Parts: sequence; C-alpha cells; structure tokens
Amino acid sequence: MSAHASRILHRSLRETPPKAVAGEGVWLISEDGHKVIDASGGAAVSCLGHQHPRVLDAIAKQASKLAFAHTAFFSSEPAEALADQLVGHEPGGLAYVYFVSGGSEAVEASIKLARQYFVERGERQRRHFIARRQSYHGNTLGALAAGGNAWRREPYAPLLSSSFNHVTPAFAYREKREDETDAAFVARLAGELEAEFQRLGPDTVAAFIAEPVVGATAGCVPAPEGYFRAVRDVCDRHGALLILDEVMCGMGRTGTLHAWEQEGISPDIQSIAKGLGGGYQPIGAALVQGKIVDTIRDGSGAFLHGHTYLGHPLACAAALEVQHIIRDENLLDKVKERGKQLEQRLTERFGNHRHVGNIRGRGLFQAIELVEDRTTRKPFDRVHKLHQKIKAAAFKGGLACYPAGGTMDGQSGDHVMLAPPYISTPDDIDMIVERLGTAVDSALRSINQ
Ligand SMILES: Cc1ncc(COP(=O)(O)O)c(C=O)c1O
Repeated sequence: MSAHASRILHRSLRETPPKAVAGEGVWLISEDGHKVIDASGGAAVSCLGHQHPRVLDAIAKQASKLAFAHTAFFSSEPAEALADQLVGHEPGGLAYVYFVSGGSEAVEASIKLARQYFVERGERQRRHFIARRQSYHGNTLGALAAGGNAWRREPYAPLLSSSFNHVTPAFAYREKREDETDAAFVARLAGELEAEFQRLGPDTVAAFIAEPVVGATAGCVPAPEGYFRAVRDVCDRHGALLILDEVMCGMGRTGTLHAWEQEGISPDIQSIAKGLGGGYQPIGAALVQGKIVDTIRDGSGAFLHGHTYLGHPLACAAALEVQHIIRDENLLDKVKERGKQLEQRLTERFGNHRHVGNIRGRGLFQAIELVEDRTTRKPFDRVHKLHQKIKAAAFKGGLACYPAGGTMDGQSGDHVMLAPPYISTPDDIDMIVERLGTAVDSALRSINQ
C-alpha cells in the first residue's frame, strides 16, 4: 500500500479525498487547513450548516439517556416526538411516518408500502410502477430500478426489476418542443403517462413515482405549472398511488417545507431524508396517508418490512432539533429570500455566459446547465468531463458545489447544483456565485485550449 492509499473504498478508487476535520456554519475545513464554503451541503444535506450547537446538544442529551432500543421491543421518546412534529397536523393528509436511515431506504419503504397496500386490498395484480427517465431515487436495487438515469443503471441492468417503467421527464429545457407552450407540454406528458397506464393495463399499476424538483441526475429541474395536478389526475383516474420523492428537494429546500405545497396537490406517500436530519445523523422517512396505514392495519396488521436501525433514537433526536430550529429561526422565509438572491446573482453572472444554457431551480436549490452551444443546446463532449473539472477548480478556490454529468440523457451534458445551507448570509451567497464563476471559467479554459 502506498503512503497515500486508504483501506476505504472511496468514491474514486484512484484518489483519496482530503480528510475533513472541522466544520463551522457554512464552512468545512480539511486537515491541511483548507477552508471551503459548503455551497451544496454535500448533496443538499447540511441545511443548517455544520456543528449547530443546538443539534449537537440534543444528540448529546439523548445519548446520555438512551442511545438505542430495538423497534421490535420499544418505541422511543424522540421517535414519537419527531412523528408528531412531522405528521401530527396531517399535512396534505399524510398522517403516519416510517423512520429509516436514509433516502434509498425511504424510497424502498415507499415502494413496498404501495405494493402491500394493494395486496391487502385484494388488488394483487397491481405490480407495475411508473417513474421518469433522468430521475434518481437511490442506489439500492429497488430504488435504482425506479430511477431512470442511464449510466447509474447500466452495469446493474440485469438485476433491476422489470416492474419499473419510465416516461418522459417534465424537463422543459431538454424535452419541451420549440413551438410548444407550457400547457401543451404538460398535456403531452400527461397523455404519455395515460398511454403508459393503458399499455401496462391501468389496473396493474400500483404507483407513479417522481421527484417534484429533480435533483442529482438533471440539476434542480422543477416541473411546469400544472404538471403535478395533471399526473395526480391520471393516478386518481386509475386508482393508482402517487409517490413523491422529496429526499433531496424536501424539508424546506425549495422554500416550503414540502416541495409539493407549491404544486397544489399532495402525495399518497412521500420519501424524505437529507434535510430531515441535516447530516447530523443518518435518517430518512416515508410519510403516509392514513387510508394506506388503515388498510394494512385492518388487513394483515403489519407492514412486512423492517431494518435494525428503524427510528434510531439518536437520529430522531437530531432530526427533531433540526426541525425545531427551522421553525424557531423562520428558516423557510430565509430560504425564499436567499433563494431569490441566489437566482438573481446566477442570472447576473451566467445569464449571458456563452456556455451556460439554462439557470433553474427553486429556493436554495439552483443549478446551471453547461452547453457547448447555447443556440443548439448541444452539450460538451463527455470526454472533457467538464463537470469534474469544475468540481476540482471550485474546490481549489474554496468552494464545494455539486457538479454532475449525464444531464441531457444520462450520458451527455453537465450541470452544477447549488444547495447552500438555510443559514447562509447574503454575503455567503455572493461569495458562492463569485467563486463558482471563477471555477466555471477556469474549467472551460482548460478544455477550450
Ligand atoms: C431524490 C433522491 N432520492 C433518493 C436518494 C437516495 O438517498 P440516499 O443517498 O440517502 O440513499 C437521493 C440521493 O441523492 C435523492 O436525491
């Protein structure tokens, strides 16, 4: 083993990332003292920034009382309190919560809940799920099968269930025709979803699953006005469920606690994770409509699922405090204000940039999409790995952002996502955009030479 090698399977097996040794608010510090502004909260995780004293205190207090009790024997105070906080007021009819340890587990639980609901109703034929191309729902095999991102699926394709089918995403920049209005685009997508129900057999579909604002795979893509009302109608018409994956875009990231609040609909099941615990503990959850839980309670009486760390007391205590801070510090208002500022600054810096084709997002969840040619929207050749070059240049310049490739079709295209902490100041937002501008231009220079 070389002096620099590590025994960990890091994300790249060719290089070991620097060790992060400290955090403070929006800043992360590595062992060599390099200070980086965390403009993406990792992958839209650290909504309160780092080392928030109230959350650290809540974890310590809970650890001193009880660190773990298995859910086959006990419930716990923090899990019950967090459930009351999340669904006590039954937002959009979501009345129950199932606590897991992350986003993929939340999606797996959501899919299995939908399936078991129909089994208990005597509708065993409902075995199909419809999702969208260019979506991401997680990396476990069920969640990966639901996702529609080509390069992530490709090596595992033989292991992925054929119960998952994919339709066109509501990705206006890439999918809307030049002569099409938003309303016509929405009608076309709703028509395609209806046709997919008909192709599969409408009474064989259990659920449609979608991210209200698409995250990692397409870069902060909200749907056009009316899209979610239209797909909700299609699901209702055929008695299928609507699962919304808010693992990345939920828990305040877009300016409302739930992204669906801005769509005029609510889901039957919702997956949440990242902003739930803000990275202070690994936690995710499925939020569920009462009718689904009642059906299972009146049927077999138990959700046939489970993991060892369901409802972990330390994770629930941390998430409860994160949610209290969001409430106490009116952080949703901050997300709206700073989100507007971020969008404005991005527009000023990149609106006329010849290699930025689109700026999009909601709240503190904004992205730029890079193109070789703005007129044709042609992406850069993948061999350049532009997104990786931007990430490296940004990091060197003291900025952690979230660039990714495959934006257009799961293979080609580059975007950069920003998801700054909700506690970011106006100066932080200015600094983020300035540093991103420098990084983008430096990466482009390196490939244009
Ligand atoms: C929309 C969405 N769903 C699911 C997941 C999977 O979450 P996790 O990485 O916590 O398993 C992610 C992660 O990025 C995500 O963005």
